[in-house]
Amino acid sequence: MKICYFTATGNCLYVAKRIGGELFSIPQLMKEDKIIISDETIGIICPVYAGEMPGMVRSFLSKAVLKANYVFFIYTYGMSSSVARPNAISAAKKAGIKLDYVNTIKMVDNYLPGFEIQNQIDTAPQKDIEGQIAAVCHDIEQRKKNVSDLNLLHKASIAIVGNTMGRALLKGNNAKSYIVNDQCIKCGICAKVCPANNITVTDRVYFSDHCEVCYACLHHCPKNAIHLKNERSSVRFRNEHITLKEIIDVNQ
Ligand SMILES: Cc1cc2nc3c(=O)[nH]c(=O)nc-3n(C[C@H](O)[C@H](O)[C@H](O)COP(=O)(O)O)c2cc1C
Repeated sequence: MKICYFTATGNCLYVAKRIGGELFSIPQLMKEDKIIISDETIGIICPVYAGEMPGMVRSFLSKAVLKANYVFFIYTYGMSSSVARPNAISAAKKAGIKLDYVNTIKMVDNYLPGFEIQNQIDTAPQKDIEGQIAAVCHDIEQRKKNVSDLNLLHKASIAIVGNTMGRALLKGNNAKSYIVNDQCIKCGICAKVCPANNITVTDRVYFSDHCEVCYACLHHCPKNAIHLKNERSSVRFRNEHITLKEIIDVNQ
């Protein structure tokens, strides 16, 4: 089994590690000229961003050639997975990939404009994350299939909800709204954890124009020096089972 994943704060990496197999970071795969992956089973794991998959994961689906008998797609999310499930089926179909199984796992929400992160961390036990992961692992072991063709309602909700939320996200919350305060020691960790290679640190921190809006730079800054103008929380999050070194290794 091979699993391709995208992660900012470690939830998806943790789920990928729990499911097992050979793991591939999507940001690193995207640096290859061609992506051809073959195995009996291939999985894709990524977070929900505004009812969608991250832009880079959508590009990965278009670029990659996946040769497998069984393909699964797992989202992690925090509050509502909205139209993410039909969105994955639709995006994969457009890319010529037939998904067999799509599911979601509710974990800690790392969306800084929306949530008190400490509250998200404190209430995580109520989500029975381990139970959800165990159920998904069982389904995958059993080669469960749960994907059928999208109906008209799905297609309409993807068009309306997906587009509206995605547009709002990109408009209000890209690297232009990040503030680096004087706690910054220019250690460069923000650049190393950025899956989009969008950050350069010299005399100051420079953000380029292809931010994935994943907030890895904000969550992993050791000095908590990067902030959003509209953040609801100054507390930061990294999945408790994942180290900073792992995030750097998979994203830089
Ligand atoms: C820009 C952005 C948008 C998000 N949108 C949603 C959303 O629509 N619904 C939701 O439940 N969680 C949303 N989240 C939360 C993440 O999907 C969730 O925390 C995920 O588990 C993070 O995975 P990671 O730790 O592997 O990066 C969003 C997070 C970010 C950064």
